[in-house]
Parts: sequence; structure tokens; C-alpha cells
Amino acid sequence: MSTKTPRHIAVIMDGNGRWARQRGWPRSRGHLEGAKAVRECVEGCLDLGVEVLTLYAFSTDNWQRPKEEIETLMGLLKRFLIEYTKEMGSMGVRFEAIGRLSQIPADCQRQIEAARKATSLNQKLTTILAVNYSGRTEIVDAVKRVAMEVREGTLEVDQIDSELFHQYLYTSRWPDPDLLIRTSGEMRVSNFLLWQLSYTEIFVMEKLWPDFKRTDLFEAAEHFAKRQRRYGGV
Ligand code: IPE
Ligand code: IPE
Ligand code: MG
Repeated sequence: MSTKTPRHIAVIMDGNGRWARQRGWPRSRGHLEGAKAVRECVEGCLDLGVEVLTLYAFSTDNWQRPKEEIETLMGLLKRFLIEYTKEMGSMGVRFEAIGRLSQIPADCQRQIEAARKATSLNQKLTTILAVNYSGRTEIVDAVKRVAMEVREGTLEVDQIDSELFHQYLYTSRWPDPDLLIRTSGEMRVSNFLLWQLSYTEIFVMEKLWPDFKRTDLFEAAEHFAKRQRRYGGV
């Protein structure tokens, strides 16, 4: 892995619905094809030597969608976990999940736990699924935990700084993303990793998520290698 290879890539997998609509198909078909594109992305990360991949699969705001669409997405998540845990687990992929997981259907929670357990010793690439996730709820959850410790007297207010706060986030075990990829051309972060994206390089591509191929990941990584990161310096 060169120093110009991103250690952590985060992806906003967007455009499934538009991809299906363009073909006159139901949105659910777009989600099905989108789940297949995840394989391309994971395998591309393995090829590049990326250590962490965070995939935005379902946001806390996506509950506003029609009930059938939510059911399709949760069903796909479960199927994805069953199929990919074995297949990608054998390639050295470790599965993790972040978000308010206690609010998703119980069978999905169980499948997430099974995937975590089955792949916990894998070390090549950690793939983190952000499910029922939003950056704001993550920060609120962290603030609550910090406040509780202050109330209990195990933490002093003066001890709170960025580094300490990071330890209370869902992502405390991993470095911040180096590169954020968003498909479908939208120029927004849609409540994803608000704290962690502070100095992340952003790459937006026009392609819709179901069309995403590992070559697109390589292209994004090439752009990243040419970026000059300054972190506020000169
Ligand atoms: C991304 O595709 C998948 C999820 C948000 C779960 P969309 O479903 O947002 O597709 P568009 O943006 O409507 O095309
Ligand atoms: C972001 O996409 C959420 C996921 C990819 C899971 P959305 O389609 O929900 O976001 P907006 O509505 O375009 O901001
Ligand atoms: Mg969208």
C-alpha cells in the first residue's frame, strides 16, 4: 500500500431509484442491483489495500420512504449479509455495523451480529455498514454518553476535547475517512459521518450506484493520490 492509498474510504451509495426509473422498473430493482455493486466496491478495496470501507446503506431519514421500499431495503440487507459473509469472509473481510441498530427489524439485527461474529478475526479489510445511521444522531448519542459520565462523576468537563469525544462516537475504533465517494452527482453529505468528514477528500461521480464498478473506485483513488491535503496548514 502506498502512502497515497486511502486507508479509509466512505461511500454514499446513491442513485438506485433513478437507475431503475430510467429503465421503467420499480425502485426495488435498483436496490437489488445496488447490492450487487457493493461486491465490486469491496473487491476493489481489497485490490487497493484499503483498510476500512464504510458504506451508507440506510439513513435515519430513509424511514420517510414508502413502507414497501423500506421492507425491500431491510430484506436486501439481510440477504446481503447471509450471502456475502461467507463469500467475502473467506477473502479476509471483517463486517461491522454502525447506527441505531436496536431500531431495525430483529432478524436484520441478528444477521448483523452473526456476520460480525463470523468475520471478527479477519484483518484485510473492515467493511462497516451504516444502517439506520445519521451523523447527527451519532453525535447526539455520543453527547448523551459523555453527559452521563459527567453526571456520574467519572469524567470532568475539562477533560472533554476532540480526541476524547472521538472515543464516544460509533466509529471510535477506526481512523477518519481519507476519501468520500458519492455517486449520482449529488453535491451533499446527507447526514453522513458529519464529525469524521472534517478533512476528508470528496469525490463525486455522475454514475448511479448500480453502475459502480471497481474501475470507478480505482479512478477515485487516483484522483485522491493527486490531492494535496493541508489540514488547515499552508
Ligand atoms: C440509494 O439510492 C439507496 C438508499 C438511499 C438506501 P436511492 O434510493 O436514494 O436512489 P435515488 O437517489 O432516489 O435515485
Ligand atoms: C443518502 O442518500 C443515504 C444513503 C445512501 C443510504 P439519500 O438519497 O437518502 O439522500 P438525499 O435524500 O439525496 O439527501
Ligand atoms: Mg438518493
